[in-house]
Amino acid sequence: GRVLVLAGGLSHERDVSLRSGRRVAEALREVGLDVEQRDADADLLASLRRDAPDVVFPLLHGISGEDGAIQEVLSLAGLPYVGSAPTACRLAFDKPVAKAIVRRVGIATPGSAVLSQSTFRELGAGVLLDALVARLGLPLVVKPARGGSALGTTVVRSADELPAAMVECFAYGERALIERWIDGTEVAVSVVDTGDGPTALPAVEIVPESGTYDYHARYTAGTTEFFVPARLDDAAATAVAEVAVAAHQTLGLSDLSRTDLIVDHDGVPWLLDVNVAPGMTETSLLPQSVQAAGLDLGVLARELLAVAVD
Ligand code: DAL
Repeated sequence: GRVLVLAGGLSHERDVSLRSGRRVAEALREVGLDVEQRDADADLLASLRRDAPDVVFPLLHGISGEDGAIQEVLSLAGLPYVGSAPTACRLAFDKPVAKAIVRRVGIATPGSAVLSQSTFRELGAGVLLDALVARLGLPLVVKPARGGSALGTTVVRSADELPAAMVECFAYGERALIERWIDGTEVAVSVVDTGDGPTALPAVEIVPESGTYDYHARYTAGTTEFFVPARLDDAAATAVAEVAVAAHQTLGLSDLSRTDLIVDHDGVPWLLDVNVAPGMTETSLLPQSVQAAGLDLGVLARELLAVAVD
């Protein structure tokens, strides 16, 4: 049957999504599938009706791509697709909500506060931000409650950097997540489910040259060193895999996800976030785990499509 890969869209991660879409479309063609790649533009609804694909692989990142919106459209159109149901996407994409949900099943996630732009404006920077620093300590991390690819995210090392970090964050949305900094090893664990239940792939350890895994370090080849599998002891490697699978299940996700974590110096995994449309670019994490597991991205994607139409 005919496969439609959806990419692009109008989120801040449009370029990343186009790269993810291209990569997966090529991988699927290499394993013999009839694939069309389409930009999720204003013509989307008409083109879905016109093209009537048999199955869709949505690779839209960020707002409208990972918050359940595109999944809702595909569900309403009666089109089978790879990935999680709309409600599960909505919960997982909202970082404060996802953190609250996984914490209830005993998964550790850094202490945090949520601040809306309107509260920030009303109360002013001074007292409020002093209270945050007193509560969460320094450094701390400011990130949009809903977003990806580290856009709008700042590591704040001294209190006087906090107001600018908040303003930068609010350029991406109404709510900011302000999170305690956890010192340790940054890892990403991809989970795939091709019908036998969710399985963790080898963890990727992320060592950015600059010290911060920002947008540049994510998408510019050679700016980040990766170790796959991550250089963790057996106990920590098992723990991160268990946390990623538990997060996938607790959030009610399907088919694939990627959980990003910090393993602290005592070996405790702290969940940062869970991605329902993990990046598939040349520098992205899930494809590296797939390769390290001895799998082929095209074969895996074909299996995910087969499960979706089942
Ligand atoms: N948000 C990007 C696409 C990622 O998590 O890989």
